[in-house]
Amino acid sequence: MRSFSDMRDFLAEVKRRGRLREFTEPVNKETELMPLFRVQMRGLAEQERGVLLFDDVRGAGGQRYSMKVAAGVYGAASDLLALGLGCESTREAMDRWHEGLSHPVEPVIVSDGPVHEEVHTGKELSELGLDELPVPVEEPGFSCMVRTGMPTITKDPETGLRNVGAYNAFFRGRDRLVTGCAVFHDAMSRHWPKAQKRGEPLPVAVVIGGPPVLMAVASAPIPYGGPDELAVAGGVVGAPMELVRCKTIPLEVPATAEIVIEGLMSTEVTEPLIPFGEYPGYLATEETYLPVIQVTAITHRKNGIFTPITVGMYPSDNNTILSFVYGATLYHHLRYGAGFPVEDVYFPESTAGREFCLIRLRRQRGVDPWSVLHAAAGLMSGAKFVIVVDEDIDVRDNDALLWALSFRFRPEADLEMVYGRAPSLDPSGTPPGSGRGEMVYGASLIQKQHGKVLINAMRKWGYPPVCLPAKEYMERALAIWSKHGDLPQPKLQEPWHGYELGNWTEENREDARLIAQGKYLQVGEKTAKRQRRVTGDMIRDDILMGR
Ligand SMILES: Cc1cc2nc3c(=O)[nH]c(=O)nc-3n(C[C@H](O)[C@H](O)[C@H](O)COP(=O)(O)O)c2cc1C
Repeated sequence: MRSFSDMRDFLAEVKRRGRLREFTEPVNKETELMPLFRVQMRGLAEQERGVLLFDDVRGAGGQRYSMKVAAGVYGAASDLLALGLGCESTREAMDRWHEGLSHPVEPVIVSDGPVHEEVHTGKELSELGLDELPVPVEEPGFSCMVRTGMPTITKDPETGLRNVGAYNAFFRGRDRLVTGCAVFHDAMSRHWPKAQKRGEPLPVAVVIGGPPVLMAVASAPIPYGGPDELAVAGGVVGAPMELVRCKTIPLEVPATAEIVIEGLMSTEVTEPLIPFGEYPGYLATEETYLPVIQVTAITHRKNGIFTPITVGMYPSDNNTILSFVYGATLYHHLRYGAGFPVEDVYFPESTAGREFCLIRLRRQRGVDPWSVLHAAAGLMSGAKFVIVVDEDIDVRDNDALLWALSFRFRPEADLEMVYGRAPSLDPSGTPPGSGRGEMVYGASLIQKQHGKVLINAMRKWGYPPVCLPAKEYMERALAIWSKHGDLPQPKLQEPWHGYELGNWTEENREDARLIAQGKYLQVGEKTAKRQRRVTGDMIRDDILMGR
């Protein structure tokens, strides 16, 4: 397994795999850069999407930036996200994630690191400060401000307990940001009130261009007071993360990060959020007031690389990241915490990686699918739909899911509504102007009027076989197919062969064997012996069967 403790090593690997696309011509960061990124996100298949590297970034006023921009580092595609965790597939990454949560590896502090190659403080901040960073406009024509959505480190002012959360920071001046951290997330709910009580601001460090695993752990619902997110990161990649001490605040940050913004989050002054892109795929327009961050230092590598993040219409970095971290974390809890025979958990990106929770469950005596549904609904406060399917349904394949919902689910018996969901920024949750208000950005607190739909789409009794050729015949067909060099390589969807599901007799098996041997006359002889005369009852039976 490879482990990327440095984003630059990861970019080198992405390049080696032909997924780094470089733009060497001047690109305008206000009007061109993110639209180019959106062209690939809305226009290319996932396996074709990559990291876009912009070498010559210009501002709307024509100014040149010495920093490059790498877009899509953290969530251009789910296989690249897995690669960033040192894995070749999402499946493998889910197992690594479990390893990280169960065997965290504490970070280590080193004396110096590339992130301190350049340090800007004091007067330099008011003269250039955040203007040095080539922050692109995400949705030109609609975005009303620019931001980063990067891992943000804080510590409990009393106990020193660290938290890392991915929060937006909105640019408001050369040395002034406004945090996007919602009031129920750890930095705001646990650290900020303690700082406020002490009459102090809260030190924060925003880490831009850290190793990919940092972004994943920062976005994940890792229980507060459990393992340090940075130790989980170490456990996932199998090596401790190296940290350096910040220059102006009592925090530590990854030594290889591209850029770190050090600052003090006010516990006295707030400023309004104004419209910006959010994960449901709409602009967030609700007016909310959140604390101002006074920047105290900007440190960065020589020729630092800025990493914007797309939050908004799917597919976006945000939705890819949340899809993975929610799926992998719930998989860990259900399978290894509760001991349910869960094979996969998936939150589709188009549902912002949070609204649909799909669980693939192996049948096991004594395991009631409803227990699994209720456990998942309790753990994922935001999910609107929680659906459990059999182990032969690939939850990552929309068609397979619709097939299961069509033929293994009875609306009158297999659906339950439970109340108490956190609608967060779901625009169907609350009408505009209904008061998220001061410091309640996202209004994600669980509210009892908001419902969740639980669906048991598993078979309730024995079913006839899946209607495809049996495995041996499909394998034979594949072997013949592969000898034809001119034919396209098939990518078989599950299920790709027929199999029994409990409703198939010995006689059915025998008939099918005879038919595959070309002996239909023999089967016909048997059915001839079972001929019956037409009766009125028979017609009624046929009508009842809906024929
Ligand atoms: C790109 C990105 C941006 C995010 N921005 C915010 C944000 O501005 N505010 C917020 O409350 N959560 C945001 N989140 C979600 C949090 O990072 C996530 O809920 C995380 O679990 C919070 O960590 P915490 O529980 O340690 O506070 C964002 C997630 C991603 C992936």
